[in-house]
Amino acid sequence: MAGRIKIVAGNWKMNKTSPEAVKLARGLIVNIGRLEHPRVILCPPYTALSELANILKDSNIYIGAQNMYAAESGAFTGEIAPSMLLTIGVTYVILGHSERREYFSETDTIVNDKIKLALKSGLIPIVCVGEKLEQREEGQTEEVVAGQIDGSLAGLSADDMDEVVIAYEPIWAIGTGKTATPEMAQEVHRFVRDRLKAGFGETAEKVPILYGGSVKPENAAGLFSQPDIDGGLVGGASLKVEDFAKIVKSV
Ligand code: 13P
Repeated sequence: MAGRIKIVAGNWKMNKTSPEAVKLARGLIVNIGRLEHPRVILCPPYTALSELANILKDSNIYIGAQNMYAAESGAFTGEIAPSMLLTIGVTYVILGHSERREYFSETDTIVNDKIKLALKSGLIPIVCVGEKLEQREEGQTEEVVAGQIDGSLAGLSADDMDEVVIAYEPIWAIGTGKTATPEMAQEVHRFVRDRLKAGFGETAEKVPILYGGSVKPENAAGLFSQPDIDGGLVGGASLKVEDFAKIVKSV
């Protein structure tokens, strides 16, 4: 669609020590560090953010964190505030990933608080939604995704939505090798965009909606050619220079 930016983000999850992360980032700079399109974002673990932000500052590659806490500072042992991310050169933050929702009990309310503070601080949230296998099989995909969209984005304005990226990640496709077909994914992406339109009006046409869940070099082009799929949030395949570079180039 007109004017919507394309994005490929790599979510490295809990992988790569700092030296390993530096090696991977350097490999990516050589391969895709000068590309103007799509926008490429690397989301390494916290421990590698600062070093990677330095290495990448003269490239076209952006840095994202995988999470943050919904407070500016204080007695929250083990947590990271948005200002800490911003001051080391982080631009994006993944919020509400299904692994955070499942293993760390993050609810839509918690995700909503984080999104609001991220926006207030100047970070761009990449907000994840997606259904479980049982929910899809029971025909509840739209209901589940609508609930996550409405709950996570509650209280935001249309202007806020100018600075939000959505990622649709069906949980049954994450790390399983089972990808949604381009048509299946497009159907949900269209639904998400319509839901955004109902809440925020025409701004919805500008919100990038990324697909995540077993994106590989072999299936990326098919997914990215769909009208409402504006790129990908890539897990496993983002850990290999060649695979990630191929995915980026297939946009
Ligand atoms: P995989 O690409 O490994 O399926 O992971 C997807 C994901 O969760 C990205 O956030």
